[in-house]
Amino acid sequence: MINFTNLDRQNLRQYGRADEAGEPAIECRSVSCRRPGSTVRTLNGLSLTVRRGEWVCLAGRNGSGKSTLIRLIAGLLNADEGEIRIDGEPLDPRSIPRIRGKIGMLFSEPDDQFVGLTVADDIAFGLENIGLSREEMEARISRYAELLGIGHLLDRHPAAMSGGQKQLAAMAAVLAMEPSILLLDEAGSMLDDRARTHFRAIVNRLRSTGTYTIVSVTHDAEEMLLADRLVLVSEGRVLAEGEPERLLADEHLLAKCRISPPFALAFCRELARHGWPIGLHADERKAVDALWASLLSKSPPGFGTEIG
Ligand SMILES: Nc1ncnc2c1ncn2[C@@H]1O[C@H](COP(=O)(O)OP(=O)(O)OP(=O)(O)O)[C@@H](O)[C@H]1O
Ligand SMILES: [Mg+2]
Repeated sequence: MINFTNLDRQNLRQYGRADEAGEPAIECRSVSCRRPGSTVRTLNGLSLTVRRGEWVCLAGRNGSGKSTLIRLIAGLLNADEGEIRIDGEPLDPRSIPRIRGKIGMLFSEPDDQFVGLTVADDIAFGLENIGLSREEMEARISRYAELLGIGHLLDRHPAAMSGGQKQLAAMAAVLAMEPSILLLDEAGSMLDDRARTHFRAIVNRLRSTGTYTIVSVTHDAEEMLLADRLVLVSEGRVLAEGEPERLLADEHLLAKCRISPPFALAFCRELARHGWPIGLHADERKAVDALWASLLSKSPPGFGTEIG
């Protein structure tokens, strides 16, 4: 398991003053964008505000425009219409170099992000560019490699690592830059179950430091549940947004966005279908509590004589 105590001990740079908490970090105002060769708009008047310290999950079916939105926010694509502001500053060719320094971005394809010959080189590359001392560089390399559980891979060549290991290494390189805004576009898609659980825990822990504003794109409902807000994107617009647990309980929305429900919710529905309703709970803890309450209050159907 990844141990967070070292991260807790780090005096992580707090982003903004306390009285600035909740200010918009990312504002997309009626943004439209057409990709080259396309006759239709990929983003179609999309508006979205993400506040400082907030973790927003973007979800939606393939081709709905999530990656396009992430690339626009990172200044890698230009909007045809509308405006994007980062920390209140409009994103334009003059401001992009400065704003990029605040943003850490991870894609699902880690091969595109490696520049070093080893993982350690790769993490060091970005740090050299911001002029850190050797001691601070080494401290950051070991701090973030440990956080991601890849300390044993620091001397490894990227070609000698699995896709999941590369994703963790790419995450370490991005976090080592200590950006205030993290854009994660299916950044944990190659991870196995255990590594993905760790990945979610890391993002969750980063959010709880209050230092990062996080936008993550995912098809993983368990990740969506952890976020502060879920934004469902469809045909280049925001279809729905709000508390993840509430949105994930809406079967029609999930079908429209082709999202599989979280395990606990599917379990509750299956119980209800068998005549044992315990309410709908997307959160596993709440589902277990409701199950216990139901078990203690009455005998479940079909088990009456044995238990009662
Ligand atoms: N480089 C490109 N050139 C032209 N069209 C593109 C390009 N990248 C994406 N598109 C088109 O833009 C639309 C939105 O793509 P985008 O990658 O933003 O979707 P997405 O929501 O991220 O999908 P996925 O879940 O598959 O990653 C799609 O119709 C896609 O075909
Ligand atoms: Mg995408």
